[in-house]
Amino acid sequence: MLGELSVAVIGAGNLGAALLSGLSALGDAAPARLLAADADAAKIEAIVSRHPSVEGVSNLAAAEADVIVLAVKPHVVQPVLEEIAPTVGPEQLLISLAAAVPLVVLEEAFEEPQPIIRVMPNIAMTVHAAASGLCRNEEATAEHLELAREIFGAVGETVVVDEGQMHAVTGLSGSGPAYVFTLIEALAAGGVKKGLPQAASRLLAAQTFLGAAKLVLESGISPADLRDQVTTPGGTTIAGLHELERGGVRSALMDAVEAASDRSMELAEMLYGDDGHRH
Ligand SMILES: NC(=O)c1ccc[n+]([C@@H]2O[C@H](COP(=O)([O-])OP(=O)(O)OC[C@H]3O[C@@H](n4cnc5c(N)ncnc54)[C@H](OP(=O)(O)O)[C@@H]3O)[C@@H](O)[C@H]2O)c1
Repeated sequence: MLGELSVAVIGAGNLGAALLSGLSALGDAAPARLLAADADAAKIEAIVSRHPSVEGVSNLAAAEADVIVLAVKPHVVQPVLEEIAPTVGPEQLLISLAAAVPLVVLEEAFEEPQPIIRVMPNIAMTVHAAASGLCRNEEATAEHLELAREIFGAVGETVVVDEGQMHAVTGLSGSGPAYVFTLIEALAAGGVKKGLPQAASRLLAAQTFLGAAKLVLESGISPADLRDQVTTPGGTTIAGLHELERGGVRSALMDAVEAASDRSMELAEMLYGDDGHRH
């Protein structure tokens, strides 16, 4: 499906550039045309020099693509939409990465009903290992959703949710890398406390997260069963797990997701109100 289409990214910053690099790495399965637009010409030059299949274009030229991905900061969404909306029609798909900007606000920029998909990715898109939540508006079909999953599948894993669940996605995987960085740092500090060198501790801690995550994703076995498999009665792991329980690590992580999710909802309500309209 992707191979016949043109995909444009408006905003070739952290995530926009990562998406373009992931899509160009698809080789034969890459979109027929990859377009990049950005206010900063240096960013376009950088991405085109790294990925010659990417064409640098203006926002208006990008707005002619089959799929237009908005990867600008949330406060820039409105002006960019005002600029491109007259060029965009319902035969095109608009995808927005802008955190907290609701579908209804995106829809209001268009005179005709417009298929739109919102994506909440995370910073791991820069290493093509994002966890992204996707939701669609009424005009977007199941095929549009599949297309969006194919696009974001080039840079990580995707799940489809209702728009109301996007705050939970924000609190879990959007903010999640920061929780995991903290956990890796703490695990490494434990190694240093027991006499390991800093660099070795950090490598062991990070690789332990990566390996455990791969096991969960690739085995299909639940984390609880995997944990039981490595916990020998009376052994070392249960001694460590007991300390984690004492420290309330599990409820702290649940509270972290809840707090970040609630904060995401609060910020969206401050900006757009309960009904999704700008205040
Ligand atoms: N980074 C994350 O972890 C993360 C996670 C979830 C969601 N998101 C969402 O993803 C979106 C992109 O984030 P990011 O971190 O990639 O931002 P970013 O690095 O700031 O990239 C945005 C790019 O858009 C450019 N730009 C500004 N005004 C423009 C205009 N009028 N037309 C075209 N391009 C314009 C910026 O150029 P200048 O730098 O010159 O202004 C910048 O290169 C945001 O909406 C954010 O909410 C990000």
